[in-house]
Amino acid sequence: MKNPLPRWFAHRGGGSLAPENTLAGIRLAARLGYRAVEFDVMLSGDGTPVLIHDETLERTTNGSGRVCDTPDSILFRLDAGNGERIPRFAEAVALCREYGLLANVEIKPATGFERETAEVVARMTTSLWQGAVVQPLISSFSLEAIEVARDLVPNIPRGLLFEQVPADWLQEMSRWQALTLHCSARHVSDQVLGEARDHAVPVLCYTVNQPEQAKSLFERGVSAVFTDRLDLFSSETSAYKGLQLGG
Ligand code: G3P
Ligand code: MG
Repeated sequence: MKNPLPRWFAHRGGGSLAPENTLAGIRLAARLGYRAVEFDVMLSGDGTPVLIHDETLERTTNGSGRVCDTPDSILFRLDAGNGERIPRFAEAVALCREYGLLANVEIKPATGFERETAEVVARMTTSLWQGAVVQPLISSFSLEAIEVARDLVPNIPRGLLFEQVPADWLQEMSRWQALTLHCSARHVSDQVLGEARDHAVPVLCYTVNQPEQAKSLFERGVSAVFTDRLDLFSSETSAYKGLQLGG
């Protein structure tokens, strides 16, 4: 299955215009013409994969404590902003499929739950997207999670995610059989972009909220960016890089 790579990804579901990592955010991204969304997936205290960024509930919900200690009976009653609930991963996938969005599933394990989170998310990713025209892209800062995804669901494209790209990144790409490189826009160097171009590796940068920065990154060879400012780029969201993901 091959997917075209969109140039714009709505970061954390709907960026900053809707509560992050919520179904409302994904709906907003689709409404504004985005073809791709990135969201973060972590396990609840009951082992249910849910969309949330932080290991703790305080910043994005009216709850408190660690996500991995919170049972579903409490977690799904919380307000994640504007009355939105924390979504189950399965609900987010259903919405992405309904809208034909490419999802970048960022496996975001709570500390100590790397393997367990990756196993659940990888298995569900393959079953929930079965038969879909637009297949997802898995990424993670956790190389343990990437290893599990590679071993359990080798056919789902993987991206390595770094804040700062290590010097041996190409060896890491080959070791984990990854297709894309995801990294912070602040630190991406021309050396890395040159190596990526030479090896035909698409580079995706987060988090880009200014048009001049996006323009400059694209000119330097970046293939796609993650943005919180869905409003600023909605006229450009139908642009594709012309690259294909997947095999
Ligand atoms: O996956 C790209 C980006 O989301 C990584 O940073 O902290 O927003 O998950 P973070
Ligand atoms: Mg993320």
